[in-house]
Amino acid sequence: MAFSHAQTFADAVVSDILIPADEIQRKVVEIGRRISRDYDGLNPLLVSILKGSSFLMADLLRAIDIPIEVDFIAITNYGPATRSSGVVRLIKDLDRSIENRHVLLIEDIIDTGLTLNYVLKLLRGRHPRALDVGTLLNKPARRLANISLRYNGFDLPDRFVVGYGLDFQGRYRNLPYVCVLKPSVVSF
Ligand code: PRP
Repeated sequence: MAFSHAQTFADAVVSDILIPADEIQRKVVEIGRRISRDYDGLNPLLVSILKGSSFLMADLLRAIDIPIEVDFIAITNYGPATRSSGVVRLIKDLDRSIENRHVLLIEDIIDTGLTLNYVLKLLRGRHPRALDVGTLLNKPARRLANISLRYNGFDLPDRFVVGYGLDFQGRYRNLPYVCVLKPSVVSF
């Protein structure tokens, strides 16, 4: 689909902006500062769960001013019908051992918490010295698993949101803010 100058891609699809881009960037810098302070001298490993959190990860890493290492895991759900089961399959594992490491899992959003619950159980079994979680977005109303968050950017209402890494059918991750799509765009 092509867009004229009068109607941008965003104008065509976005209904409400819930968190503007500058607020996100301020929050990311604040969380980056806290991580720099809390993990100073601990050589932490920051782990991003692909794909959504890669956007946050890229900005967050540049807001951290202590030595850190990064790694990525990729998982897939077994499909929409089983989504609420929280059963996921690892399709890319960590590159190295996390035994005795201070590990911080970075998520873009925690909804039911089932994905993270699965990943946390998996990683705990590898005996890190510490395993914590940081998320930019949190939907507490939808939680089905008990997750404790060391860093939490924003609590969101129970609305379907996209942007800043979050997608609808693979699209809209590149919007720089967190927003709700127009009903005409979202057809579940
Ligand atoms: C999103 C998000 C979390 C998960 C949260 O990923 O990045 O990993 O959903 O949902 P939950 O708390 O209900 O388990 P998604 O499965 O959409 O994959 P993506 O990051 O590749 O878009």
